[in-house]
Amino acid sequence: MSARDTFRAPKGTRDLLPPESGRQRAALDRFAALASRYGYGEIVSPMFEDLAVFQRVGESTEIVGKEMFELVTKGEGETRLALRPELTASVCRAFAQHRPATPWKVFYQGPQFRYERPQAGRYRQFTQVGIEALGPDDPMLDVEVITLGRRFLDSLGLTRVTLLLNTLGDPAGRPAYFAALREYLSDRRTELSIQSQTTLETNPLRVLDSKRAEDADVISGAPLMVDHLSAEAAEHFAAVRAGLDQLGIGYEISPRLVRGLDYYLRTTFEFAAESLDTAQNAVGGGGRYDGLVEQLGGPPTPGVGFALGVDRILLACDAEAAFDGPPEAVDVFVIDLTDGTRALPIIDEIATAGLAADRAYDNRSMKAQFKAADRSGARVAVIVGDDEVAAGTATVKDLATGDQAPVVRADLLSALRKQLT
Ligand code: HAM
Repeated sequence: MSARDTFRAPKGTRDLLPPESGRQRAALDRFAALASRYGYGEIVSPMFEDLAVFQRVGESTEIVGKEMFELVTKGEGETRLALRPELTASVCRAFAQHRPATPWKVFYQGPQFRYERPQAGRYRQFTQVGIEALGPDDPMLDVEVITLGRRFLDSLGLTRVTLLLNTLGDPAGRPAYFAALREYLSDRRTELSIQSQTTLETNPLRVLDSKRAEDADVISGAPLMVDHLSAEAAEHFAAVRAGLDQLGIGYEISPRLVRGLDYYLRTTFEFAAESLDTAQNAVGGGGRYDGLVEQLGGPPTPGVGFALGVDRILLACDAEAAFDGPPEAVDVFVIDLTDGTRALPIIDEIATAGLAADRAYDNRSMKAQFKAADRSGARVAVIVGDDEVAAGTATVKDLATGDQAPVVRADLLSALRKQLT
């Protein structure tokens, strides 16, 4: 590669630049604030884990079996690591390691990595926000979790996102259902796509998740988990539905909803954005994963949670013209007509006081500086020239009306505050 080659972000990744990065930041902050209000504290865990942590999540899933970025460490023996494809496994690993008191309610945000075929809304590095609640078996916790996800999407102004709800049953009901499903699919095996024929070998449930047209007919007649629930699983599901009804949270029962990870039991759900292309319309999903902590070496501990795809949520916001993100404009633009050194302490003072300020550089002409002030969107300009320096003042100019007046330098901050309220 020569020095003149241009580099691009790796395939499936993207740079988030202002203002889009500010919009994402605002969405993340909003999620953090909401999760805190429901009693969730933040967990910050490593971007990579022992490969085996993710393998426990289910080697038969595409996410773990095919899409993991594995790391080879140098000179550390046999440690096999992988970039996290999701955070539920990391959270359960952390729980098993630290054994905090339950109920343990945490939220997270950050990048995940999956080696997928990139397309619109599907990236190799993408950002999730999510929550996990460990300990209680209580269906009211499922309701709380789903509600938090719904309220977050609502708070962004999204109106065309459907909550799809299903139950995958519990260990008491699953074997009979799996046997019925396997038998049905095996009987109609030759009508399935080649890919689904392979999936049938490893996990018949995941055949129901196929979006391939060839499979639609077979899938539509397949036996459903909801018809094979144990009494306890049916009761749990009924309580979740009643809780959502009580809060007026709408949902669609989606008996063929299968999630892309193997750890789910009982409640599962997805948020589907009608404004996005169906292949990538899941803006989030989650459910119960009652056996996972145990699989990762901890005590038997029920768990429920979700993750939302922030990149896709912002695409849905684009499609619905929702959530513009914060305005980029600064409050004040400082125009320095001396040698550029006078703006320095003024900006420092304004920014320290909690207002946003910007300036021009390289001793630009007065005209160029006023143009930059207009572009900045600032409501007010502070002008310092030789006259102001001699008089110990600064000129404060309202950029909308053009009104301007000198203020004593020591009173500048309070004058700006007054002008900006
Ligand atoms: P997931 O369904 O694999 O679940 O991912 C959750 C969300 O992340 C998806 O609905 C989607 O919005 C987003 N997402 C996934 N892959 C990509 C990608 N390649 N590009 C862009 N966005 C993507 C989980 O990750 C589970 N850990 C959720 C969970 C938490 N279940 C229980 N607790």
